[in-house]
Amino acid sequence: MNDKELIALAAEVRTKAYVPYSHYAVGAALLTASGKVYTGCNVENASYGLTLCAERTAAVKAVCDGEREFVAIAVVTENSGTPCGACRQVLAEFGPRMRVLVADAAGNGQAYLLSDLLPAAFDQSRLFHCK
Ligand code: THU
Repeated sequence: MNDKELIALAAEVRTKAYVPYSHYAVGAALLTASGKVYTGCNVENASYGLTLCAERTAAVKAVCDGEREFVAIAVVTENSGTPCGACRQVLAEFGPRMRVLVADAAGNGQAYLLSDLLPAAFDQSRLFHCK
């Protein structure tokens, strides 16, 4: 699975985004260490705060399938939007060094490291001494 293929899968699932309020469709395709890919789109709600982001939809699907090591995620929007802070934190739990590929609808984009997008992340090492 190369970057271009991952971006294409994100663009495909983006067509399923449920976005009657923002009209900002997001598609994500998440690659795990075992080589599997999980896709997700944003799913909005009339109670706005319950909206699910595309990235977290994909992450939860992966974890429910037993995947706990994330390698890369492609995120497609109309203007190469980067993952929100909440999604960065959730992704960091399973892929602190993962790559984040953002692209626009034409497939043009940029690659980041999650560790650059979320420096000094809060992680499980802070909790090891707690009972
Ligand atoms: N959204 C995502 O799906 N992922 C992000 O990382 C940022 C925001 C969605 C939520 C909402 O449906 C729309 O984009 C506008 O915020």
